[in-house]
Amino acid sequence: MRLEGRVALVTGAASGMGRAIALRYAEEGASVCVVDIDRPGGELVTHMIRDLGGDAEFVQCDVSIREQASQAVAATVRRFGMLHVLVNDAGIYDPADGPIEYLSEQTWDRVLAVNLKGPFYFCKYAIPEIVTCGGGAVVNISSTAGLTASDRPAYGASKGALIAMTRAVARQYGADNVRANVICPGPIDTPLRDRILEGRGEQDSEQDSEQDPAAPSVPLMIKRVGRPEEVADVALFLASDDASYITAAVYPVDGGLSAL
Ligand SMILES: NC(=O)c1ccc[n+]([C@@H]2O[C@H](COP(=O)([O-])OP(=O)(O)OC[C@H]3O[C@@H](n4cnc5c(N)ncnc54)[C@H](O)[C@@H]3O)[C@@H](O)[C@H]2O)c1
Repeated sequence: MRLEGRVALVTGAASGMGRAIALRYAEEGASVCVVDIDRPGGELVTHMIRDLGGDAEFVQCDVSIREQASQAVAATVRRFGMLHVLVNDAGIYDPADGPIEYLSEQTWDRVLAVNLKGPFYFCKYAIPEIVTCGGGAVVNISSTAGLTASDRPAYGASKGALIAMTRAVARQYGADNVRANVICPGPIDTPLRDRILEGRGEQDSEQDSEQDPAAPSVPLMIKRVGRPEEVADVALFLASDDASYITAAVYPVDGGLSAL
């Protein structure tokens, strides 16, 4: 029970990695605020946690809208009385995010709004609450696309900037006992990845499972895509006291992709 007595807010918790993180945190004793734009998915995860004997609440929220982010944090504190852990997982991929000369301002703005402004709003409103509770942890979900040469300029820019913002937050709030770290997943088997493959007319074949769809010619060291639970385990470590001297760190969970 590595998160016994802690309260965690997880954005993007209705699906994929966010869902796996919310469930893992609950298993380890945390009360979880499940935040997502997707109400049915978010309510399902909330019920799954309650069925397992945990405590959870769903708050519907578009993370890119400031008032909704602020209200989601306020609702969490109202419901649970505290906040110790923030996970910024909600993110989008847009198939129109391609060669920069054809990339529309609308696509650029939307991707940056969800993937970067959302985490900004949640850090802005959640960190003061975490400080009030004596400290805690921020875990931001970036991507190998933020570390390497992505073929998606808006997505890569959003994920690279998220790493820089996390380091700044770690620097600003270390003295307040708030640690902030980043996970950079490689190809992980989630609905988002299914949509990327569908958009390219590809299937999750044996050959593809060894490759990042964002960089089809690059092989992984571990010859398969990752599971959401493998990311959740690292997110648990970073949120827990096991990582008490780790901040401003970047953890690739990518089968070795970013080292190639
Ligand atoms: N799957 C991968 O291969 C992969 C690799 C690297 C990084 N990532 C990142 O991991 C994170 C989770 O991705 P996933 O693969 O689990 O995706 P997913 O699509 O399964 O889950 C993302 C969740 O975010 C929610 N969401 C989207 N826009 C939102 C908004 N505006 N407000 C609130 N919620 C919103 C969705 O409803 C969904 O529940 C994302 O930030 C993604 O960029 C994914």
